[in-house]
Amino acid sequence: MEIAITHQPDHHEYVVVIPVTQHHNLSEVLDLCRRENVTGIPEPGQFKADWNEVWPMYKGEQRLFLLGLGANPGFPEVLKAFRSFGHKFRQRLSSDLAVSFLYANMPDKPENVVEAAVNGLALSAYRIGKFKTSNGEEHPLSKPEAKCNICINGVESKSLQQAALRGRIVADTQSRIFDLVNAPANKKLPGDMAAWAEESAQWYNYTVDILGKNQLQALGFHALLAVNQGSAHPPCLIVAQYCPEKPVAKIALVGKGVTFDTGGLSIKPSANMYLMKSDMGGAAAVMGAVEAAARLKLPVQIIGVVPATENSVDAHSMRPSDVIGSYSGKTIEVIDTDAEGRLVLADGLFYAVKHYKPDVLIDLATLTGATVRAMGYHAGGLFSNDDALANELMQAGERCGERLWRFPLWDAYKDEIKSDVADVRNLGIRPVAGAISAAKFLEVFIDNHPRWAHLDIAGVALQDSEFSSQKSATAYGVRLLLEYFSSFSPS
Ligand code: BES
Ligand code: MN
Ligand code: ZN
Repeated sequence: MEIAITHQPDHHEYVVVIPVTQHHNLSEVLDLCRRENVTGIPEPGQFKADWNEVWPMYKGEQRLFLLGLGANPGFPEVLKAFRSFGHKFRQRLSSDLAVSFLYANMPDKPENVVEAAVNGLALSAYRIGKFKTSNGEEHPLSKPEAKCNICINGVESKSLQQAALRGRIVADTQSRIFDLVNAPANKKLPGDMAAWAEESAQWYNYTVDILGKNQLQALGFHALLAVNQGSAHPPCLIVAQYCPEKPVAKIALVGKGVTFDTGGLSIKPSANMYLMKSDMGGAAAVMGAVEAAARLKLPVQIIGVVPATENSVDAHSMRPSDVIGSYSGKTIEVIDTDAEGRLVLADGLFYAVKHYKPDVLIDLATLTGATVRAMGYHAGGLFSNDDALANELMQAGERCGERLWRFPLWDAYKDEIKSDVADVRNLGIRPVAGAISAAKFLEVFIDNHPRWAHLDIAGVALQDSEFSSQKSATAYGVRLLLEYFSSFSPS
């Protein structure tokens, strides 16, 4: 989709979207429509500019759509309105599209509004049916000739052009992450994840190193290898690095890359087990954030570390009661083989700290059902040993619509993971505070790093959406991390 910022309406565009907020004077917008001989203008009270409300009109050959944004829409509201409009009305759109701000007053932060609108429109073209043999009609905005003109007055167009480009690039990476998380488990074995990262690195000019099974054995990634024991497919550690010329900060990201979680011998019930193909949602967020940071040439150095494996059932599977080692040297008593995410993260976290000494360490993982029970599908769980980092992440989430809410990390919870036979056990003694005891387990493996945050995204990596009848990928974390990175400005 090609995007241009224009100050004049172009009479060729077949479809024009007119965003209207409730604090705009709706009657002024409608008066202008009347003067321009628009037909199908709503009668008073027929269109209230509620969020997601759409009103179709005509002007000669052009189709006009009023798109309601509600009162005081922020970035997430604009984004979601455009995304759901672009999807729902796909059959009535054309590849020649305009979004016109000429009918109403200027939005408050035009760059934000333009980025959100473009991001939403570009995401609306996403299609989930990759493995269907016949796939219906292409979305008009994903055709090669697709064009989107943003008509806007009174702002410098260079910054708007950049905002629009950002919206499109981020949407492109987010769509690739949708594909990765939505992919069935047989199409995204650890080796496929590694290949994805290597290809992305080549396209977008950053580096990827893959540690294969032999290297992991030689280096002592015992916890990752233990989780992999029951799988017919070798594990790997993906290490992606993007480094600009003069980085203003060094941030390490670690993502849980369990490509399918059966639970292992502590096997899960079969209902909904298929959703555990998304147990690499943390890894996907990390890989997407590195890719997008590279494409946007952000001023921060990002190191993405992804321990990737299946958690399968087999004669070789690790057992409950097994004591395993770890890359850190600490021993772990495995109480439940379904608490595997913290095991692979233990090795990933310690590797990231030891080799890269980052300023900030953030891990993302679909780690516990306990987070889902606590907060449902509307926020990720945030755990951090640094208040400033926690606040920055929460605020970034609030701004971009990928919300976080903080849980405590008090040492009072440490007793839960005390083991009689090893340094630590992988499951709490009592069935309470499961999200917190998981975070306390991870804390054992960060080598006392002073600025660490753990994001439990079990409830938000998949969501109901306009793209599918069942839960599908959200790419949660990509935008959140980008938003957090943007708090570091170039020196
Ligand atoms: N991958 C799951 C967590 C999960 C649950 C993700 C629901 C997405 C949706 C994780 O590996 C797991 O199995 N957690 C168990 C841990 C338990 C055995 C201590 C859980 O939370 O039930
Ligand atoms: Mn599990
Ligand atoms: Zn899992």
